[in-house]
Amino acid sequence: MKRRTFLKSGLAALALAGAGTGSLSLLGKNGLVTSAEAGGFSDPLPIPPLLTNLDVSGETASFTMDVQQGKMNFFPGTHTATLGYNGNFLGPTIRVRNGQQFRINVHNRLPEVTTLHWHGLHVPAQWDGGPRQPIPAGTTWSPDFTINQEAATLWYHPHAMGLTGEQVYYGLAGLFLIEDDISDNLDIPKTYGVDDIPLVIQDRRFFENGQFAYAQNMHDVMNGVIGNHLLVNGVMQPTLTIPGGQVRLRLLNGSNSSIYKIAFDDQRTFHVIASDGGFLEHPAPMNSIILSAGERAEIIVDFSKESQYAVISLLVEQMRGSSFEAMRIAVNGTTGVTPMVQDLRTIEKIPESEATKVREFIMETMSMGRGRMGMGMMGRRLTINGKKMDINRIDELVQLGSTEIWEVTNRSAMMMSMPHSMHLHDVQFQILSRNGRTPPAHEQGRKDTVLIMPGETVRIISRFRDYTGVYMYHCHLLEHEDDGMMGQFEVIS
Ligand code: C2O
Ligand code: CU
Ligand code: CU
Repeated sequence: MKRRTFLKSGLAALALAGAGTGSLSLLGKNGLVTSAEAGGFSDPLPIPPLLTNLDVSGETASFTMDVQQGKMNFFPGTHTATLGYNGNFLGPTIRVRNGQQFRINVHNRLPEVTTLHWHGLHVPAQWDGGPRQPIPAGTTWSPDFTINQEAATLWYHPHAMGLTGEQVYYGLAGLFLIEDDISDNLDIPKTYGVDDIPLVIQDRRFFENGQFAYAQNMHDVMNGVIGNHLLVNGVMQPTLTIPGGQVRLRLLNGSNSSIYKIAFDDQRTFHVIASDGGFLEHPAPMNSIILSAGERAEIIVDFSKESQYAVISLLVEQMRGSSFEAMRIAVNGTTGVTPMVQDLRTIEKIPESEATKVREFIMETMSMGRGRMGMGMMGRRLTINGKKMDINRIDELVQLGSTEIWEVTNRSAMMMSMPHSMHLHDVQFQILSRNGRTPPAHEQGRKDTVLIMPGETVRIISRFRDYTGVYMYHCHLLEHEDDGMMGQFEVIS
């Protein structure tokens, strides 16, 4: 890695200080900790606090946030250097209502640049928080805009050029919930932290000295950094205690580059009620759900048939890694059986005939040269339409008010087949087809991020409304994004 940030250089000193304490004896190859030591399910699942609205009248949503350095005790007796929003790791949950005026002062207290991007939010380009809105060290960024979007589970994270993966890895991420009349009136669990539970699922690797082992080489860039420890809301192997009955879990795959298959140990059926951009029309029954990096889903799990003191495990399996018992759910109480809501809302399907343009995007892992394996690896490039991100180049011009179909293909070379996770800023799109077939029920709602497997072509349709300006599209495997698997579209009037 050519770049050496304050984090890495700062860690050198910590690594020395931590050496020889013997608190972590699980040294594997390359100095990485390889076995999963347990949190042992003794820690309660922490619930990220709701960020306090400074406007007591509640008419506007007014917040302040510090981006800061911190430390965590992931392993007993060892401090891991971290980053957090208003705390040591991750950030508070921001909850707003559709139509509200949203104001926030983001103070960058880091010794390096950051940005704050509202992932999934339909927002004026100047407040998008992408690479074009840097917040230099020691400065404050103050977005001010109207929430113009239906109820959904969105999230926020940094997005500075070339720094996204590392800053997220160290802990910068949080949830951004929008509520509206529909979410208020639906008969679903909605008490935050009680039966409406956010789950930020991530994985990490550590050095022997307990520090994060972020991207070390070209292999990590090409494959993404895949961890061997699983965190839920920043904790390994926590236990969530619930009152029984129906519980709503808001799942975020907040990992850098992992694709997760999420299920329960008894293979129970749950109902997906929302995708990235809000509620589905009808709950979709499933036994497991796959989420690529950046994707969300809201699910309702019924624990009304459990006896008190029952314990159910949440399992998370990495597509290209290990399986984890991620969390235990302890049922503490019994409630009557609540029937599952049948109709969530109607979604206006964007008709294909409305589209005035079709664009093609090829996500490609290109081999730049021949030769031995090592050299071949060095010579591979991650591109979209053969290009790497250039902030001084606008890749696509989109007419304000228009509807477009984007056909996104994952063309991976056979030696290097790799899933990608395509994400668009500004819009919530709809998936028209996967390899020519209708998407499954849980992918028929609004989406902003979509998994694209090697060889797959996914067609999506979006309306570009309300705002002009420059937005990003990119692979949400953050090591791919930082390596330049990103482009810019400008909405023009
Ligand atoms: Cu979640 Cu462009 O980002
Ligand atoms: Cu985004
Ligand atoms: Cu990718």
